[in-house]
Amino acid sequence: MQRRNDGGPFLLAHVTDPHFRGFGGASPVDFAGKRAVGALNVVVNRVRKHKMELLEALRLDLRAHAPDHLALTGDLANVSLTGEWRAALAWIDGCGLSPESISVIPGNHDAYVQTVVASREFERLFAAYMTSDLPREADYPYVQLREELALVGVSSSVATGDLGAWGLIGDAQLARLEAALTAPEVGGKTRVVLIHHPPVLHKEGEKRNLRDRAALASVLARAGADLVLHGHDHEDQRAELRGPGGRPIPVIGAGSASYTGGPERRSRYSVYEIAGRSITWVSRAHDEATDAFKEVRREQLV
Ligand SMILES: [Fe+2]
Repeated sequence: MQRRNDGGPFLLAHVTDPHFRGFGGASPVDFAGKRAVGALNVVVNRVRKHKMELLEALRLDLRAHAPDHLALTGDLANVSLTGEWRAALAWIDGCGLSPESISVIPGNHDAYVQTVVASREFERLFAAYMTSDLPREADYPYVQLREELALVGVSSSVATGDLGAWGLIGDAQLARLEAALTAPEVGGKTRVVLIHHPPVLHKEGEKRNLRDRAALASVLARAGADLVLHGHDHEDQRAELRGPGGRPIPVIGAGSASYTGGPERRSRYSVYEIAGRSITWVSRAHDEATDAFKEVRREQLV
């Protein structure tokens, strides 16, 4: 991999919850049950709240900042349609990064209905961004070794079977995650865990939270990690979990890449400047007045 910023920190960009739209190729039978409700929500609410123009502006800002790696933590779609994912693929393609410099995991909106989850269409379409450098028994977690980083892609996204947006990693994946985080190949690397749902409680309401977050916290307490990145809540969030010996693990959420709201939640992405054990969180958000992205936050995490 060609390092872009020779001598400087490793730049890891984090984009989440873009909620791309694209109904191309969909047929009426695709809009039964939960999808009918979700598609109506797209038309009534999301068209207003999530703007594709903001995603385009974000892409240009990201390109100009030339990160070494880009992590996308899910909700690329709204109702898990091929057209939505194809729009996401086109956007990714325009980011100016090679496939091995991009990691993708699904969100709950990418696992909207059971038939699509069972088809593994998401995993097929985004396969180039979900490769694993460690042998694996299942799609998740995958481990990507990139210079001093080990990116660990977890899926918390399941077809809930109801209108809830809750997440579940599951015991089997949690066991594989613990093995991955303690694998010899990962030793000495800065371990970055990618997961869609926040692994800590930010908002009440179990219809939308990660159900087995306590079990994940236990895995991280035993195995450790250096940074956990998530999306889902459509706002920047900072929390902490504890690793072995009580060592803090920063848990950082990014707001939605396409959200039109006020300055606190408007379209944004994060860039992590990683140099040795030092990690600095930079957030860049769209400024409505100037129609440009600007730095709105800079915090040293470790
Ligand atoms: Fe979500």
